[in-house]
Amino acid sequence: MYKTLKEVTQIATELNMTIGAFNTHNLEMLPEMLRAAKEMGSPIIIQTSIDTAKYIGYDVVVAVIKEIAEKEMVDAALHLDHARDFDEIKAAIDAGFSSVMYDGSHLPFKENIAKTKAVVSYAHAHGVSVEGELGTIGGTEEGISVAENDKVYTRPEDAVEFVKQTGVDALAIAIGTNHGQFKSKTDVNIPLLKEIHRVVDIPLVIHGGTGVKEEDYPELINNGIRKFNVGTELLVNWTKEAKTAFTETEVNKSLRYNVIPANQKVKEIVKHKIGLFMNLEEPLVVGKRHE
Ligand code: 13P
Repeated sequence: MYKTLKEVTQIATELNMTIGAFNTHNLEMLPEMLRAAKEMGSPIIIQTSIDTAKYIGYDVVVAVIKEIAEKEMVDAALHLDHARDFDEIKAAIDAGFSSVMYDGSHLPFKENIAKTKAVVSYAHAHGVSVEGELGTIGGTEEGISVAENDKVYTRPEDAVEFVKQTGVDALAIAIGTNHGQFKSKTDVNIPLLKEIHRVVDIPLVIHGGTGVKEEDYPELINNGIRKFNVGTELLVNWTKEAKTAFTETEVNKSLRYNVIPANQKVKEIVKHKIGLFMNLEEPLVVGKRHE
C-alpha cells in the first residue's frame, strides 16, 4: 500500500526497527527496490532528489510507486529528499508524493523554524508528512556541500524547541554522519543521539547512511532512528555493475543485458540493509556488504 512517512515510521517505532530510505536515481532500479522490501516483509521509503524527480517526472515517479506498492502489496512511501525551495516542495505534494523534507539546516535557527512550519502547514493540509533538519550533515550530495569546518552537531535543546514549534513528523539530526562517504566509515556520536532521543519523542533520521558502520546499526535503532537513508552505496554499485555490462555486451544486444545486472545488485544491497534494519535478535543477514 502507498503510505506516508508518518505511517511507516510508526510501524518502525512499534517494532523497534528502522525503515530504509533508499535514494533512486532512475526508473530502472525502482521495481527491484520495492520487490526487495516485499521479499523481506518490511515497509520501504523511496526517496528522490529534486533533480531526479524532475528527470523522471514528479507524476511518473508517483504513478510507478503507487502502482507497484498496490500490486505487490508492499508498504511504500515516496519522499522528496533535501528540498530548500517551497515551490519545488509544492510541486511534489501536488503530484502525490507522500512525504517531503524541508532542509532549512543552513538557515539561522528561527528562520529554519518559520520556513519548516510553512511547509508543515501546506503538507499536512494535503495528508503529506514532513521531515525537518537541524544541525549540518557533512559531505556533498547533488551539489549541496558542507565544508568540514561548517559542520554543526544537533543540540538537544534546539531539537526540543524545533519539534514543538514546527510540528514535523520526523527529524534529521547531525551526529557525525556525512553524505556520500563510501570509502571510509564515520564515528557516530551515540551519546549525543541518546541525549536527543531522551528529550525528543518523534522519529529520528540518519542521513549519510552509506558511511555508517553496520555494527553501529543496533545502537542507532535502539535509540530512536526510525528512518535510515542510504544512497551512495546503491549508486556506486549500480554504476559499477552497469559499466562492466556495457563494456562486455555487444552493442546490438538488448539494453536489458546492461541494466538488469545493475538492478539486481541494487536489490541485493537493499535486502541486505533491510535485514539489518529489522533489528532482530538474530540479524537476517542477506548477502554481503558492498563497498
Ligand atoms: P548516502 O548517499 O551517503 O548514503 O546518504 C543518503 C542520504 O542521506 C540522502 O539524504
